[in-house]
Amino acid sequence: MVLLRTLVLLHLLATAYATQLRARNANLPRPPTVPPVPAPDIAVYHVATGAVLPPLNTTYYFDQLIDRANPQLGTFKQRYWHTWEWYEKGGPIILYTPGEENAEGMTGFLVNRTINGQIAQQEHGATIVIEHRYYGETNPFSDMSDKNLKYHTIQQAIDDLEYFAKTVKLAMPGGDSVGPAEAPWVLVGGSYSGALTSWTMVNKPGLFRAGYATSAVVEAIVGFWEYFEPVRQYMPKNCSADVEAVIAHVDTVLKTGSESQIAQLKDNFGVTELTHVDDVGGALRNNLWDWQSLEPSTGPNATFYQFCDALEVKNGVSAPSSGWGVDHALSAWGGFWQDGYLDNLCGGQSIADCLGTYDPTNPLFTDISVGNDYRSWNWIVCNEVGWFEDAAPVGMPTLVSRLAQPAYDARACSLFFPDTFPAGSSPVPRVAQTNAAYHGWDVHVDRLFFANGKRDPWRGATVSADAHFVPSTPEQPIAVSDGFHGSDLATSNALVDPTVLAVQQQALRAMHGWLQGFEPTKQGYAEEME
Ligand SMILES: *[C@@H]1O[C@H](CO)[C@@H](O)[C@H](O)[C@H]1NC(C)=O
Ligand SMILES: *[C@@H]1O[C@H](CO)[C@@H](O)[C@H](O)[C@H]1NC(C)=O
Ligand SMILES: *[C@@H]1O[C@H](CO)[C@@H](O)[C@H](O)[C@H]1NC(C)=O
Ligand SMILES: *[C@@H]1O[C@H](CO)[C@@H](O)[C@H](O)[C@H]1NC(C)=O
Repeated sequence: MVLLRTLVLLHLLATAYATQLRARNANLPRPPTVPPVPAPDIAVYHVATGAVLPPLNTTYYFDQLIDRANPQLGTFKQRYWHTWEWYEKGGPIILYTPGEENAEGMTGFLVNRTINGQIAQQEHGATIVIEHRYYGETNPFSDMSDKNLKYHTIQQAIDDLEYFAKTVKLAMPGGDSVGPAEAPWVLVGGSYSGALTSWTMVNKPGLFRAGYATSAVVEAIVGFWEYFEPVRQYMPKNCSADVEAVIAHVDTVLKTGSESQIAQLKDNFGVTELTHVDDVGGALRNNLWDWQSLEPSTGPNATFYQFCDALEVKNGVSAPSSGWGVDHALSAWGGFWQDGYLDNLCGGQSIADCLGTYDPTNPLFTDISVGNDYRSWNWIVCNEVGWFEDAAPVGMPTLVSRLAQPAYDARACSLFFPDTFPAGSSPVPRVAQTNAAYHGWDVHVDRLFFANGKRDPWRGATVSADAHFVPSTPEQPIAVSDGFHGSDLATSNALVDPTVLAVQQQALRAMHGWLQGFEPTKQGYAEEME
């Protein structure tokens, strides 16, 4: 047991570095970011001529308009990366943004390690990765105070894609005459950027010849309890049974327990410093959030599975599907937290800073510097999309404490952005407006390929949601694999999961047909251009 715990700790410490780059809070909803796909910075050759191309990590800068509606406001530098390994004249331009994160190092999305590069390889296209405004170093302002976030909207992000496509002069030969009227552009996105793909094709008809949207969270939803449903459905049964049992007990103690019972519960998890009971209940979501980083290629050592093993394997014996029951599971969960999990989660921060969500002086809320992508993401959450990942409604099984409710998460909006959401204002994101503007689940556009994974926790906001049926049609196909969040983006996942391979192959066939039909002068968009 000691050996096992040591190994678990070593593994957790090895992954700690990645999560502690910036002060963050581990008790607020996770962004829907898809796993990154890096590529080595090795020389790339133009396949047709053998010419040596610039390294994939060469950064290009585009002069983007701060406000499309008010061009006099000027421009800012938008970063992008670009290669033309497979390009031949007439080929498509494949554009991808990772969305809510720094786009540096996303070079795998330029080459055939991803579906992007596979499309380029098949269709002799060129690839681009562009950084979304207000993430990484792409920012119109030198800090992200409330007033400077004014131009951080979904619509501005869509307008950026349009202005970029119509204006950019690409470094490749002939790159000054491949606008969307002259060449077919394909927009690719995953998760938030998958939704952005759908929303852009709704908002700018004809701009992109085709789209590929994986795990696209097209429907904005305030209380997104469905996030945890795929986790509950696909995790080991004994583990879900025990998590439900522990959470029911935790809620009883936190709601009706004596002070000493509550103190004992906090001690169990090593979070004595937390003063608000909903922070205690909310924090236990972390083990379920870990599901989001699983991929078909993930081995049994993934943090999520380590958690279930910690609860369900006792003296080398696995629990039956009913679990071991609350007594063992509660102490095993506490042991898991105190044996490395909590240290890794908090990366050197105090428990109060890491898991407390009430202190307005917490660096999480006060750090307005450029590159604080989590702040930037929360601006979109609080204003336009919601997706608060909370407890299931009463009467349904829940893996999450019922103290974690949308109002609990939305409260953070006032702490992040006090000038926009004054204290006590009970912010509610404008999801109805978002869905009306960009059609959410009711999207109907031609040549948009949706890919989803059965085990994706975000599936409930996609066109493959259990709660909302969207038909798959030849012009707007929906292909579902057994994968997780955005699993079909990475080529490597197809090697381990044939259902992911099938999705990629279906997409490549669809793209081939759709791109064949492109005619530069007759394209609808050419006629609409200003
Ligand atoms: C690209 O990567 C190489 C090798 O890692 C590095 O030496 C170089 O500085 C990088 N260039 C840029 C522009 O980041
Ligand atoms: C991916 O691209 C590389 C060149 O960058 C090529 O050597 C390789 O064969 C391609 N992979 C596949 C499966 O076509
Ligand atoms: C019980 O949990 C273990 C450890 O996570 C897992 O390997 C096993 O498949 C689970 N069994 C059942 C019946 O859920
Ligand atoms: C997984 O962990 C076990 C021990 O817990 C170790 O023996 C094994 O090498 C690990 N596998 C991987 C792929 O890290």
